[in-house]
Amino acid sequence: MRLSNKVAIVTGAGSGMGRAIAELFAKEGAKVVVSDVNEERVNEVTASIKDAGGEVLGVMANMAKESDVQQLIDRTVDAYGTVDILVNNAGIMDNFIPVGEITNEHWERVLGVNLNGPMYASRAAIRIMLDKGKGVIVNNASVGGLFGARGGAAYVASKHGLIGLTKNTAAVYGLKGIRVNAIAPGGVNTAISGTITAPNQLGMEAIGRAGTAPMGEAEEIAYAALFLASDEASFINGAVLTADGGWTAH
Ligand SMILES: NC(=O)c1ccc[n+]([C@@H]2O[C@H](COP(=O)([O-])OP(=O)(O)OC[C@H]3O[C@@H](n4cnc5c(N)ncnc54)[C@H](O)[C@@H]3O)[C@@H](O)[C@H]2O)c1
Repeated sequence: MRLSNKVAIVTGAGSGMGRAIAELFAKEGAKVVVSDVNEERVNEVTASIKDAGGEVLGVMANMAKESDVQQLIDRTVDAYGTVDILVNNAGIMDNFIPVGEITNEHWERVLGVNLNGPMYASRAAIRIMLDKGKGVIVNNASVGGLFGARGGAAYVASKHGLIGLTKNTAAVYGLKGIRVNAIAPGGVNTAISGTITAPNQLGMEAIGRAGTAPMGEAEEIAYAALFLASDEASFINGAVLTADGGWTAH
C-alpha cells in the first residue's frame, strides 16, 4: 500500500492511462478522484473501482474550463479534506497538423486541454499543498514534449509547454516540499488512436521518419505514475521519465 490514505486526483481518468492510474492508485490505498469530461466514463470507472473495494469519487470536469477545474478541486476538498496527489493526465491529439495548416480554433482547443488544464489544476492544488508543506504533481506529457516529430504542431507545443510547466513548478515549489515530475510516454494502446480521424499527410510523413513506435500498455505507464507519486520517489523533482519501450533511444 504505497499510497495509503492519500487523496489523489486523476484527470482524464475515464479511459486509457488515466483509468489505469486511477485503478492502480486505488489498489495502493489512495482515495481517488476520477475526473473526465465524459460523464459515462466517469461513472463506469468509479463503479469499477468501488466494485474492487476502492475509495473513489467521480467528478465530471472539462480541463479546458477553469470553472470546471476549480469545481473539481473544491469537490475533492469537500469529500476528502485535501489534495495530496494531482495527476494531470487528460490530453487530446491533433491529427498531426503542421503549423502552416492550423486554425486558431484547433490550436486553442489542443492547448486548452493539454496545457491550460494542467496549469489551472496545478495552480489550485498548489495552494492546498503549500498549507501542508507537502504534495505531489505528476504530469502526463509525451515524447512529443521532448522531440519535434511525435505529433502535430499544437500537440508538440502543448507537451513541450507541459514539461516546461513541470520544471518551473518543481524548481519553485520544491523549496516548499512539493514535488512535480512528468512522464513522457511513447506509443501506448489506448482510445486516443481513435481520435486521429484525418491524419495530415505531411505531418505523418515527418513522424514516419522517427521510425515505428513500440506499443506499450496503459498499466505500464500507471506503474511509472505510481512510483513518481509515492514517497519512494522522494528525491525526484523536476524530472521527465521517458516510458517508450526504447523508441527515443534510437
Ligand atoms: N496513447 C499514447 O500513445 C500517448 C502517448 C504519449 C502521451 N499520451 C498522453 O497521455 C494522456 C492520456 O492519453 P490516453 O492515451 O490514455 O488517451 P485516452 O483517449 O484513452 O484517454 C484520455 C481521456 O481524457 C479525457 N479527456 C479528453 N478531453 C478532456 C477534457 N477537456 N477534460 C477532461 N478530460 C478529457 C477523454 O474523455 C478520455 O477519457 C494524454 O495527455 C495524452 O496526450 C498518450
